[in-house]
Amino acid sequence: MSSSVPVAKKKQINLLRGWPSPHLLPADLLSAACQRVLADPVESVPILQYAPDEGYQPLRERLAQWLGRHFGVEPDANRICITGGASQNLACVLQSFTDPHYTRAVWMVAPCYHLAGAIFEDSGFAGRLRAAPEDDEGLDTEELERRMEAWESKEREESHPEFRKLYRHVIYVVPTCSNPSGKTLSVRRRESLVKLARKYDALVISDDVYDFLQWPIDGAVSPQWPPKMRLPRLCDIDMSLGRAENDPRGFGNTVSNGSFSKIAGPGVRTGWAEGTPAFALGLSKTGSTMSGGAPSQLCAAMLADLLRSGELESFIENKTRPALQRRHRIMMDAVKEHLEPLGVVSRESSISGEGIYGGYFVWLMLTQGPPAVLVSDAAVEEENIIIGRGNMFAVRGDEQGAKFDQDIRLCFSWEPEEALVDGVKRLGRLIKRMQGNLDHYEKLAAQIKDSDRPVSSWV
Ligand SMILES: Cc1ncc(COP(=O)(O)O)c(C=O)c1O
Repeated sequence: MSSSVPVAKKKQINLLRGWPSPHLLPADLLSAACQRVLADPVESVPILQYAPDEGYQPLRERLAQWLGRHFGVEPDANRICITGGASQNLACVLQSFTDPHYTRAVWMVAPCYHLAGAIFEDSGFAGRLRAAPEDDEGLDTEELERRMEAWESKEREESHPEFRKLYRHVIYVVPTCSNPSGKTLSVRRRESLVKLARKYDALVISDDVYDFLQWPIDGAVSPQWPPKMRLPRLCDIDMSLGRAENDPRGFGNTVSNGSFSKIAGPGVRTGWAEGTPAFALGLSKTGSTMSGGAPSQLCAAMLADLLRSGELESFIENKTRPALQRRHRIMMDAVKEHLEPLGVVSRESSISGEGIYGGYFVWLMLTQGPPAVLVSDAAVEEENIIIGRGNMFAVRGDEQGAKFDQDIRLCFSWEPEEALVDGVKRLGRLIKRMQGNLDHYEKLAAQIKDSDRPVSSWV
């Protein structure tokens, strides 16, 4: 059974793509900053050369000021290393601080950011990615410890490259407004995660890419951020605990993997890593950085200019956050109207009961069926709508460790506002049709190979 309008005539709506809408990005500001930083040879000469390994110094300093102010910590540019964005830096961290012969396992909070799996596999961890499930408070650290304990064996090797340490485990998390679940990890769990990492010689790689994209669900966005939207980063908790006994050289057990992708544009390919000074130094000595210099030198200079003038912060406060707040509300209103009556359950707040949300995504559970994979196949076939099926976000190679057969992820940052509503409405009609005729859709799905299903944002 299919809807009356042939699929080819329906406008495609992509609710899988996790990109910012062009309206959310400061093109004019970047253009003016580019003109400014290249106009004066005193600035332009070093900007167009190989960068220092640790990155463009004015950007390190301005980031330290901004982050220090925002999170209420002492600014220290020596803790920061400029990167080519969170994805590129994840690969650099793995190259420099892990070794597949030494590092036992990679623990990924599940559901997880689905494109991170390939980065870990490229670094030699295929088959050793393990799921660490979430509960209502985010990552369940007690369950993670049980799984880590079971995985540990007695033998231990020590290895001390000059600028580095090798960690025995990696834990990969998106603690604030997670992609895909939208959840924010509670302070209690943040503290126990850092303690767990210290106990098990683990490096927590914390993709902190949505920290500046949070808003109250009801009421206006304000530049005065309440504490619940500024929970301490894992790296700040780690620093506040001082040097761990088993870490005499002070590398710490957390790295904050920050990015300008969601606040200035993915195309700027610039981010930052913040950890201890020893960690930042070790990271800057990654071979490809020592050869090519820190990535994104020209963009780093433009972003430093926009941080100096305060224009980037103003843009985030006045444009990006209110626009995302509005888009989220529009999508949630549509979810309530068209999906809730069909048994679809959504999450109100990134932290339960706190009335805040953030990031780009809503995570929905189809409590009365049909399975998410059937819905995503039929959504393409009958409605020309692309959505994220839950199992895309399972941990590769440990799909049984945490399963998401009934979940879907929808992105509200990419499509225009009216398409968000139309997409959810069409999805509702589809789910209703499916609930009444499951056999037909099961047969249809059996004809589709898993490899033909969309896996990345490029669909
Ligand atoms: C959790 C998470 N990490 C990393 C990235 C990619 O970051 P970047 O563009 O800085 O490489 C994304 C983009 O969607 C993301 O959601």
